[in-house]
Amino acid sequence: MSEDRTAAIQIGEDEFKKIGYQLIDDISEFISTIEKRPVTPGETPRQLQELIGDNGLPENGAPAEEILLRATGLLLNHSLLNGHPKFSGYITSSPAPLGALADLLAAAVNPNVGANILSPVATEIEKQTVKWLTEFIGVPATYGGLLVSGGNMANFTAFLAARTVKAPKIIKEEGISNSSMKLTVYCPKSTHTWIEKAAVLFGLGLNAIRWIKTDDANKMDNEALEQAIKDDLTNSCHPIMVIGTAGDVSTGAVDDLKGIAAICKKYNLWFHVDGAYGMPAAIIPELKPIFEGIEEADSIALDPHKWLYSPLEAGCTLVKNPDHLLETYSSHPVYYNFSNNDGLQTHNYYEYGFQNSRGFRALKIWTTLQQVGRTGYVKLIAEDIALSKLLFQLANEHPELEAITQNLSITTLRYIPAGYDVGPEEREQYLNALNEILLNDLQTGGEVFLSNAVVGGKYCLRSCIVNFRTSEKDIQETIQIIVKEGRKAHENLMKKSTHSVN
Ligand SMILES: Cc1ncc(COP(=O)(O)O)c(C=O)c1O
Repeated sequence: MSEDRTAAIQIGEDEFKKIGYQLIDDISEFISTIEKRPVTPGETPRQLQELIGDNGLPENGAPAEEILLRATGLLLNHSLLNGHPKFSGYITSSPAPLGALADLLAAAVNPNVGANILSPVATEIEKQTVKWLTEFIGVPATYGGLLVSGGNMANFTAFLAARTVKAPKIIKEEGISNSSMKLTVYCPKSTHTWIEKAAVLFGLGLNAIRWIKTDDANKMDNEALEQAIKDDLTNSCHPIMVIGTAGDVSTGAVDDLKGIAAICKKYNLWFHVDGAYGMPAAIIPELKPIFEGIEEADSIALDPHKWLYSPLEAGCTLVKNPDHLLETYSSHPVYYNFSNNDGLQTHNYYEYGFQNSRGFRALKIWTTLQQVGRTGYVKLIAEDIALSKLLFQLANEHPELEAITQNLSITTLRYIPAGYDVGPEEREQYLNALNEILLNDLQTGGEVFLSNAVVGGKYCLRSCIVNFRTSEKDIQETIQIIVKEGRKAHENLMKKSTHSVN
């Protein structure tokens, strides 16, 4: 080695600027032409494998410029674009451009936000971001928490805190297998699948989940909830927590949080709200009442990478008493010299959640919250909701569409072919099959991207608008595309059915 080390991984200043500027130019052009591109090129995994090639691990290095240009081409030309104005499938937002730049900056400096000493300014920025998020959704700033990778992790982080606080203390030391106690948790049938992972992960088992029925509006039936708790108490179970949903994944329904809070208080249970998707809508003054009771939650999950338009990944766990996170996650190994040096309690994020080394997720959220501001977010979120309502209204008015549900920014609908006249049972079966085919066609066609929901046994197309690029024109065109593709799918399916009959 020479005295001045030259590492193959280094990039000289001039080259860094050259390829960096080129990258920014390419991204900038991509963003400004995104609506002219297909939502997805619809390539198969096999086609993409061929494109990537199957070379083994490179033996020798190659020029950074060449590699970055190829990566840029691959990503910009072969991706599904959730930033496209006609993307409204699942719940992934258009990413804020400033958030993308902030991620680049965060990666360049690379603070490890697990420990204060390793991320002095980044820790303060994350603390401020978490505080702003409490203000955003309207809970007291005494709530505290941390940023995590997304909704699942935000819910897991709260779940284990709930178990720590509400299950017998011995479980933390001795493990759940040394307890004969049957811990139980309660959630509406509409709860996202994270709950199953949590029940397995934290040792309760899938049978510990009490799936509570939902009403016609897809909200948890609170009477059934209370009955299930009572039944379990008489059967020697040990209820620990109730999960309410603020914006369910399929239809956007918000549970009666106030009612759930009262039940939790009565039975001394942890009240968790999964607001991964819907919670940011609480910033709209007129919508505040549907979230009433949120300020009584022991913990809340919300996802900046959903309705705050942050690039992936960004979730957040908020806890009414942040000491419960410390009680659950904090430890002090001898090899960490992370304690305070100015008389204040040092805020080491590794003590508040699962991660030890942590990236600087807060920066993309912190910057975008400032760029947009409260007023800007009220407008953006209200517009998304108005567009979702427009989609529902247009579907309702169209003779070949049936509008099914509309809550927050989620609309469900289905295609019904004109003149298809058969008995009710056969009709429903056919419509379910047809709409499933239609959804698959739409998801690969590249004109629009929707997802699906099953509502009251009906297979529906589902649109969730968390997309600052979507306009009224996109909604009108989405209706036209659904009907055009629906007619095609119906024609093909009828042909197929006739062939199979013959
Ligand atoms: C209500 C709800 N909770 C949790 C999740 C999981 O979030 P993530 O995919 O970020 O883990 C989702 C995802 O859509 C959701 O809608």
